[in-house]
Amino acid sequence: MNRKRHNARSVGIDITFSIAIVLLTISAILLVFMTEKDGTASQPDEKETISSIPVETEQIDSNYPGIKIITKTSNDKNAPYAIQYPQSIHTSFNTEVKSYIEEVQARYLETMIEKKRLDGKTSGELNVSYETLPHSSGIYSFVVLTGSSFSESEAGKMEIRSFHLNPETGEDFSIKDLLAGDSNRLQTLASSVRRAIHKDETLQEHLFEDDLEKYTEPRWMNYRNFALTEDALIIYFDENTIADSLVGPPIVSVPVDAIDELLSSAFKPEDMEDAIEIPNQGSMDSSKEEQNGEHPDKSTESDTVSDEQSKDSPPTGTVRKKVALTFDDGPDPKVTRQILETLQMHDAKATFFMLGSRVEYYSDIVNEMKDAGHELGNHTWNHADLTKLSPERIAKEIDKTSAMIEDVTGQKVEAFRPPYGAVNDAVNNMTGLPIVLWDVDTQDWKYRDPARILQVVKENVKDGSIILMHDIHQSTADGLDAVLLYLKSEGYDFVTVKELEETSL
Ligand code: NI
Repeated sequence: MNRKRHNARSVGIDITFSIAIVLLTISAILLVFMTEKDGTASQPDEKETISSIPVETEQIDSNYPGIKIITKTSNDKNAPYAIQYPQSIHTSFNTEVKSYIEEVQARYLETMIEKKRLDGKTSGELNVSYETLPHSSGIYSFVVLTGSSFSESEAGKMEIRSFHLNPETGEDFSIKDLLAGDSNRLQTLASSVRRAIHKDETLQEHLFEDDLEKYTEPRWMNYRNFALTEDALIIYFDENTIADSLVGPPIVSVPVDAIDELLSSAFKPEDMEDAIEIPNQGSMDSSKEEQNGEHPDKSTESDTVSDEQSKDSPPTGTVRKKVALTFDDGPDPKVTRQILETLQMHDAKATFFMLGSRVEYYSDIVNEMKDAGHELGNHTWNHADLTKLSPERIAKEIDKTSAMIEDVTGQKVEAFRPPYGAVNDAVNNMTGLPIVLWDVDTQDWKYRDPARILQVVKENVKDGSIILMHDIHQSTADGLDAVLLYLKSEGYDFVTVKELEETSL
């Protein structure tokens, strides 16, 4: 699932300056903690603590006019964090976002200081990232995701807050504005949300049926975190409310055409023709990818084929060409099964880079994969951006997933694909498995158009290509047959990434 990287530069900067910063921060933090331990100084004020830690701040333009991305990172060993948030030219919006960010930071640092006091050591981190969801009326929804951990075994809650901006006027808008302040409309929305929750396959096995009523009650408060896109009104619930924490903060997507009459005229989509049903909106992954055509994977487009793979085409003629089809982010009970059927029709082998959290719930389908001779790959437990995690957490994300796949299938995992294709030294060091990227990105998550996958493949495929698709989108399953027919007609054999590596050695 995806945590998007708006900006790959921060990674490089981390490495370059980390040594100097770590040295500086250790001394600063030690001072804070030592004075506290002595009991001579009063409890340090959070604000003071924040400012005493060297922080790198970077500001860059986003892809959205008038919106800047602020990145703040601290490599402080006792309380590291990486924070991204949006800013505009409008003061009230900026203040609202900033004060939330400061509150999150203060809460985190306070917990870390308390931990340090009780346990004598800390190991945790804070990650704040956000997504931009534009709407054709010109308004933006910003969805800020906060994840923290306070020790290796104690993950903090994930938290989602939404902010909304009309960039022309600087005005904020709330769910109340969206529904013209009409509580009857809110009641109708609540029913649609409940229906959507029950239709969502990802949520189903995690639901707290008893609490559902309470948290979806038609009160404005319950719906305060939302985003409006052309296709859907997305409602974000707090973690551990309507569903267990395995799914993180539950995300419920209501198709706009189902609630069109509810929206105040200012928020109606300009072109209803474009409204499409969004399949599988339940996971963080798919909903995020949906939002702004800025899939993280794009940062590693086309030139990031794995090292192990030869880029040189062998002489044509007698040698059959080879291609590795790869499917990420699954398994999905419906889409993956259809893909398996299509692959079987063509006697094609593929590689599935799966999320451990999904393997746990859809183990049957993973066994079908194995029995059909496909390769089982690791795509972390929960689609974390590993470059933002400590080495221990990186190892945990990867090892837990391999263990789950091996438990379920008895088959060894021999390939790893990092979410977003994001790697740094720590990721390289902690991965015992070959890291497999791709050279053909179908962008299937973006276009959701079966025909488009074939078009991208036609334009980019070559002998030895690794093609990236996602087995969580119905459109991908629907477009696969045409892709296989085409590649076959061009003389390609379908191999797993492992087979591809072996033949290129
Ligand atoms: Ni992925």
